[in-house]
Amino acid sequence: MQVAVLREVAPLERRVAVVPDVLAKLKASGIDVAIEPGAGASAFASDDAYAAKGATVVADRSRLLAEADVLCKVQAPTLEEAENLREGSAVVSCLQPLANLDLVRTYQRRGISAFSLDLLPRISRAQSMDALSSQATVTGYRAVLIAAESLPRFFPMFMTAAGTVPPAKVLVLGAGVAGLQAIATARRLGAVVRAYDVRTAAREEVRSLGASFVELELEAQEGQGGYAREQSEEFLARQRELIAKEVAAADVVITTAAIPGRRAPVLVTAPMVAEMRPGSVIVDLAAESGGNCELSEPGEVLDAGGVSVHGVANLASSMPIHASFLYSRNIAEFLGLLVKDGAFAPDFADEIVAGTCVTHAGELRHAASRDALQGGAS
Ligand SMILES: NC(=O)c1ccc[n+]([C@@H]2O[C@H](COP(=O)([O-])OP(=O)(O)OC[C@H]3O[C@@H](n4cnc5c(N)ncnc54)[C@H](O)[C@@H]3O)[C@@H](O)[C@H]2O)c1
Repeated sequence: MQVAVLREVAPLERRVAVVPDVLAKLKASGIDVAIEPGAGASAFASDDAYAAKGATVVADRSRLLAEADVLCKVQAPTLEEAENLREGSAVVSCLQPLANLDLVRTYQRRGISAFSLDLLPRISRAQSMDALSSQATVTGYRAVLIAAESLPRFFPMFMTAAGTVPPAKVLVLGAGVAGLQAIATARRLGAVVRAYDVRTAAREEVRSLGASFVELELEAQEGQGGYAREQSEEFLARQRELIAKEVAAADVVITTAAIPGRRAPVLVTAPMVAEMRPGSVIVDLAAESGGNCELSEPGEVLDAGGVSVHGVANLASSMPIHASFLYSRNIAEFLGLLVKDGAFAPDFADEIVAGTCVTHAGELRHAASRDALQGGAS
């Protein structure tokens, strides 16, 4: 099976879908890799490093795409890339189909099998392929470094001859994969950490990392598959009211609360930011899906009365070596489900293959995309 790896072209994207380190594992499964020159350059993987591990470097992009059985990418391919793929070939990426319905239509029309890692079922067997989790690990870690860099205070407590410096108070809202990594990182830097999540299971996870769980008099909001469910505006209003004093007392607030496929809930309003001490910092990891903080803008740092509000975008890309390393491992594991005896042969009886498949052989298999396209959205 021939896999193609392109240079990512999305603005600020520095990751690559396959790093040289995983080529031996792929080869052992009967998978050959061809890369576009410079595919790994922004993740510090040179063409020579790929060639040394057995990849072919193909300068002609059209040939690369036409000869691939499977194109692997981090971000959704461009429409032009999709048009240049061979009919009947496949794509593995974080497609976000509902945000890329034009691409979904193109894949369906051209008989391309599209697999979206952001649709991966959250089951134990899929953990090694879970790109959302691997990238959220990077994001949670980086969020704390951004906060520490921006905060005009120390994170750890210091007892010095000139006096005692108290530790920074960090509040983490949303204790999923990114939130738990943020808690662990803030604890390593010596901060006092408090955290809240609407899922009850998060309580013990937060405590096991040495942080306190903020108890609010609210009902748990558990949905399917261990995710939070979408919350009513009434619930969110009550949550904001109850959490306001925690936000005001914090030096750093890191928000990570997202609901898959939906707009992020507003957890921190402008009046709540106004109650924070000048010099405090908010890092909003949900900025790209509407923002957990009312003020945040994706990719921007705003000054709100002395409080810096970081609306981060594609944070995983800011640490491209390890983000790509983890993503490549996810891809290699996933490709193992698509290949049989060295040929592309997806087994749709496998719930991971079926769950991630958006289109196959001209069929639109992803129900939410089908609904959106039938509803006339684009
Ligand atoms: N393969 C697996 O078994 C697997 C892999 C990864 C994650 N998971 C589980 O999936 C769940 C979600 O993880 P994720 O990191 O993808 O989450 P996510 O990115 O979808 O959301 C981040 C967190 O925000 C929380 N949240 C939502 N609304 C909130 C609100 N109003 N206030 C506070 N918090 C709010 C969610 O409960 C979640 O913990 C977790 O239970 C995680 O352990 C399972």
